[in-house]
Amino acid sequence: MSERLLQIDGLSKHFSTGGGVFKPARSMTAVRDVSLSLARGEVVGVVGESGCGKSTLARLILRLIEPSAGSVLLDGVNVTSLPARELRSIRRRMGMVFQDPYSSLDPRYTIAELLAEPFVVQGRPMPKAAVREMLEAVGLPSAMTGQYAHQLSGGQRQRIGIARALMLKPELLLLDEPTASLDVSIQAQIIELLSGLRGSFGLTYLFISHDLGLVRYFCDRVVVMYLGAVVEVMPSGKSMPRHPYTRALLDSSFTPDPAARRSIVPLSGEIPSPFNLPAGCAFAGRCPRASEICRTERPPLLQDGASAIACFSPL
Ligand SMILES: Nc1ncnc2c1ncn2[C@@H]1O[C@H](COP(=O)(O)OP(=O)(O)O)[C@@H](O)[C@H]1O
Ligand code: SF4
Ligand SMILES: [Mg+2]
Repeated sequence: MSERLLQIDGLSKHFSTGGGVFKPARSMTAVRDVSLSLARGEVVGVVGESGCGKSTLARLILRLIEPSAGSVLLDGVNVTSLPARELRSIRRRMGMVFQDPYSSLDPRYTIAELLAEPFVVQGRPMPKAAVREMLEAVGLPSAMTGQYAHQLSGGQRQRIGIARALMLKPELLLLDEPTASLDVSIQAQIIELLSGLRGSFGLTYLFISHDLGLVRYFCDRVVVMYLGAVVEVMPSGKSMPRHPYTRALLDSSFTPDPAARRSIVPLSGEIPSPFNLPAGCAFAGRCPRASEICRTERPPLLQDGASAIACFSPL
């Protein structure tokens, strides 16, 4: 068993759209040369605005989609090159929680059936006791097994989503904006639940969010993405971001502690089209520190101990 649970190297994903009579084919890069490793037990946050490639990254890790380049290793096993028939056993070691507990739970199934489904997909028998135990582990009454998802509140549904992801006892949980569709008070309860489950199930988390304040609060390390690329990696807690984009995100983000809430300075300027990225730094058009070089050269991601930054003029 390796201390490094997940190792991502040079991962990229290009998408092509159009290509019909009226629409010429266009290509864009949703994930660009991302390298990242997660130690066992670590909670790493991936943060960035909508469309920056967070969900695509999660789908690449699970190999729900094929990468254009790069590799994903889980505990030393190369997920990217595994034959399809061996994918199932490696996927069992990863769980995924989705943003929207409404659409990710099929309304035709009872809670017991929803929780049993991961076993059925794996072709394994499912002990009923495991369903009841898992409901209790996520803070729901075990008597809920006969109910349907539409009878539950948003917070309860997300607890079911988490329970489902944990049924096969994965080591890595990919959490794709698990609290984004919930009220703030419910968000806090789900975060508290995830904190507890991490310890009791010995989990490693990749926690995806557009909310830097939340990620800094919950995660050990923060990875900031902009238009498909990692622009900053930093330890969480009190360390201040050095990339102008991360700083702008922080200024516009939610902080769980109201006393520490900062004045809101929203990110200004348009995000460039991913189909037509500028030659230099992708953030240059919105960056108050942009200079000539930023418009012509792309800043490389430079490692500095546990941190990394891609900027010619960091704060
Ligand atoms: N299947 C797909 N085909 C074409 N473009 C896609 C596909 N999936 C995602 N994209 C594009 O890739 C970019 C990143 O999307 P996504 O990973 O969903 O971002 P995020 O989760 O950060 O909001 C977006 O521009 C999105 O439109
Ligand atoms: S490289 Fe230049 S444009 Fe890009 S974030 Fe840094 S200062 Fe701003
Ligand atoms: Mg997403």
